[in-house]
Amino acid sequence: MKIIMLGAPGAGKGTQAKLIAERYQIPHVSTGDIFRANIKNGTELGREAKKYMDQGLLVPDELTVKILLDRVAQEDCRNGYVLDGFPRTIPQAQVLDEALAKLNEKIDHVIDVDVPDENIVRRMSGRRACPKCGATYHIEHIPPKKEGICDGCGSELVLRDDDREETVLNRLKVYHEQTQPLIDFYAKKGVLNTVDGTMDMQDVFKAVTDILG
Ligand code: AP5
Ligand code: MG
Ligand code: ZN
Repeated sequence: MKIIMLGAPGAGKGTQAKLIAERYQIPHVSTGDIFRANIKNGTELGREAKKYMDQGLLVPDELTVKILLDRVAQEDCRNGYVLDGFPRTIPQAQVLDEALAKLNEKIDHVIDVDVPDENIVRRMSGRRACPKCGATYHIEHIPPKKEGICDGCGSELVLRDDDREETVLNRLKVYHEQTQPLIDFYAKKGVLNTVDGTMDMQDVFKAVTDILG
């Protein structure tokens, strides 16, 4: 099963994608996570991506597309995957379509996690992430058992570099301009489903599994 998660920054794409990956035993592929791993490891790609990410801008399509296509060509993606944060532009979606068509494959489900802008800034400022294992928490909605510490691996949680308020506002603007048109793009293909992302994490997941079966 091949799934795409759409939604504004902070809508809960990553949170739901992790749950989907576990339930359906398919890899969670997040371009944002791949870029952050590269930044952490000090790679050339990481240095390049960071210039854009810190401003809340998109990393250029050429870079992003190559990374994503390499990732989904790996063995563990043979039975499907859940894409989180890709595609983010119409050209990215077209390249993905073409690559899949060559393999006689297609995207099965696109899930748009819908959350109004007003809720987004609040969510992002409360997000805490584990720099070691990638787990995500929210200080009010999804708190770790022990304040500031990852439940999974015991590392100290951090605020993401691009979660400062002015960067979040920029990410939202970029989302509306460049990513939101994908909702129409996939609706026309008949694969779009929308879930209300303002519900509790578990209720959102219930809505997602109702769609995926
Ligand atoms: P990326 O890492 O994809 O960030 P994003 O899209 O801005 O999305 P987030 O990860 O911030 O939010 P999310 O929807 O995953 O929400 P989460 O589940 O964490 O991209 C970062 C940057 O990389 C981009 O800005 C760009 O520069 C670059 N990039 C990445 N992909 C690219 C591409 N394809 N092309 C070009 N550039 C690219 O949830 C958010 C918070 O809310 C958490 O604290 C969570 O615990 C909480 N939460 C989740 N669900 C709920 C709920 N139901 N109720 C209450 N709280 C909840
Ligand atoms: Mg995410
Ligand atoms: Zn951890």
